Amino acid sequence: MKKVYVGLSADLIHPGHLNILNEAKKYGDVYVGLLTDKAIASYKRIPYMEFEQRKQVVENIKAVSKVIPQETLDYSDNLRKIKPDFVVHGDDWKEGVQKETREKVIDVLKEWHGELIELPYTQGISSTKLNQAMREIGTTPDLRLKSLRRMLQVKPMLRFLDIHNALSALIIESVKIKSGDVTLEFDGMWASSLTDSTAKGKPDIEAVDLTARVQTLNEALEVTTKPIIYDADTGGQIEHFRFTVKTLERLGVSAAIIEDKTGLKKNSLFGTEVEQTQDSIENFSAKIAAGKAAQANDNFMIIARVESLILDKGVDDAIERAQAYLDAGADAIMIHSRQKEPDEVFKFCSVYNELKNRKPLVAVPSSYNSVTEDELQAQGVNIVIYANHLLRSAYPAMIETAESILTHKRSLESDPNLMPIKEILELIPGTK
Ligand code: SPV
Ligand code: MG
Repeated sequence: MKKVYVGLSADLIHPGHLNILNEAKKYGDVYVGLLTDKAIASYKRIPYMEFEQRKQVVENIKAVSKVIPQETLDYSDNLRKIKPDFVVHGDDWKEGVQKETREKVIDVLKEWHGELIELPYTQGISSTKLNQAMREIGTTPDLRLKSLRRMLQVKPMLRFLDIHNALSALIIESVKIKSGDVTLEFDGMWASSLTDSTAKGKPDIEAVDLTARVQTLNEALEVTTKPIIYDADTGGQIEHFRFTVKTLERLGVSAAIIEDKTGLKKNSLFGTEVEQTQDSIENFSAKIAAGKAAQANDNFMIIARVESLILDKGVDDAIERAQAYLDAGADAIMIHSRQKEPDEVFKFCSVYNELKNRKPLVAVPSSYNSVTEDELQAQGVNIVIYANHLLRSAYPAMIETAESILTHKRSLESDPNLMPIKEILELIPGTK
């Protein structure tokens, strides 16, 4: 019996896939190389279904003899292992992200005189269209909550950006750029206390209470599907933090970050200019443990934010605390710094990476903003948070417009900086 290889993501199975598999079956035993979550995440959004779920579906398709994992977009390793007589694929990969993959398949098959068979693309249905439809339906709190852990497992580094209302959330949900064949986008939203407080005209001192913060979250949740990391400030009293965790979980928020400060919280970027007190290791560890115990869902994450560098206590203190917080059950550590250069963060990373029970690491390069994502990734950072950049970019534009109208006693001069009326009317789908 001849061997036929078909590479599939198989997240949303449709008649186009079945056509390919049924045609492939005519040439021999069908081996499906099922792309792992990691392989899919290397060029597009993580799949809705996890690998094991997708495998279960594909294994039960009549035409399929065997399902094996394909760890990369590149077929070469699996092809050399199986040496199929044929590879079958739709003819829609001659251009775009898979073009190079296709050329490699043709080259590798030549090594044993294998053949590539390309079938006409099934019209009227495609994974892209189904994906769009799924996006419109939205998500569920459970799926959204879990998506952060799933992304951490399959992507080398995640990028998050601040929200302060539904519109900022929509920007994070939908803005994409093409970089070569890869589409770049934000992985999720940072529910910043600074930007949420600022948007409400209040100082960042935990004066905006949980009820008001949840209102902003609900606005964002209603119009997006991506995961949210919530800035829970100090987490408040241990007895109160338990309820915060339950509230966030119920909403489908993926994680809460609490910082190891106590008393009236002041924004970290003030550093030692203002009075800020770090919590004791014992008390903060107890808060982490209480939060973990309050969770109903294993996938919710409590991330401990170490403020030692902010308070000039040095890397050793930061490491001692990170270790203690991991021991107390923290699911990740956030290291914050207000230096212009990333040196102290990098120093922290090199020791942190050696910890026995190391968990994901979060960095917030607001002050040391010349650092690149590649550099942070090389240091082992797993999540980078751009903490306030959407709000900070919107505010100067609004001030400029207000001043221009005052100066010119009309709005004509501000026009070049404005979005056309027609565009704002059509910005939100469903407005018409
Ligand atoms: C926030 O965005 O609210 C933060 C990060 O906590 S920072 O403002 O840098 O403290
Ligand atoms: Mg904050």
